[in-house]
Amino acid sequence: MRDTYDHILKLRAVRAFQPRPIDDAELERVLEAGRWTGSSKNRQNWSFVVITDPDTKTAFASAGRFTDPVRHAPAAIALIQEPEGYEFDTGRLAQNMMLAADAIGLATCPVTLHDEERAAKVLGLPEGTRCRYGIAIGYPAAGAGPSRFGGRKPLGELVHRDRYESG
Ligand SMILES: Cc1cc2nc3c(=O)[nH]c(=O)nc-3n(C[C@H](O)[C@H](O)[C@H](O)COP(=O)(O)O)c2cc1C
Repeated sequence: MRDTYDHILKLRAVRAFQPRPIDDAELERVLEAGRWTGSSKNRQNWSFVVITDPDTKTAFASAGRFTDPVRHAPAAIALIQEPEGYEFDTGRLAQNMMLAADAIGLATCPVTLHDEERAAKVLGLPEGTRCRYGIAIGYPAAGAGPSRFGGRKPLGELVHRDRYESG
């Protein structure tokens, strides 16, 4: 229990990876964690495109503004929102995959595909599906540091009781 709690608090985006490919069984475990994510009405309106081909990975990265982690990683997982899917579900999916990856020694960084049209073209997405987010994934480079963005706001700035504005 304590392990899970600490694990949640310690998950960080990693942007430097070893070049070696991800072991198939390990990648499958990450995808499996995604598969078991809860979704609105259990619709599971998502799918994944696992990208390892270097040219496709580069093309995929060109659809976002801050996608160097994808360029540096041996693989990326494109998170596809199927028709009637919700972004909230996609977020849960991503977090589960990232926590699972971290638990088995893989590192991840979520990325945004600002140019969804381009991402859709690169991935060959059918009408009605979209890809706004992906996950760069691989084994962390030696000494890969935490995010350049740092810590978190204190709870005092975030928590309101009963009403947002008091009085
Ligand atoms: C929805 C979302 C989109 C993100 N997009 C990017 C991105 O395009 N490129 C990137 O390098 N990091 C991206 N990140 C990672 C955040 O920058 C990172 O989680 C945040 O700075 C906190 O870092 P930490 O978790 O390592 O402390 C994204 C994170 C989220 C949740």
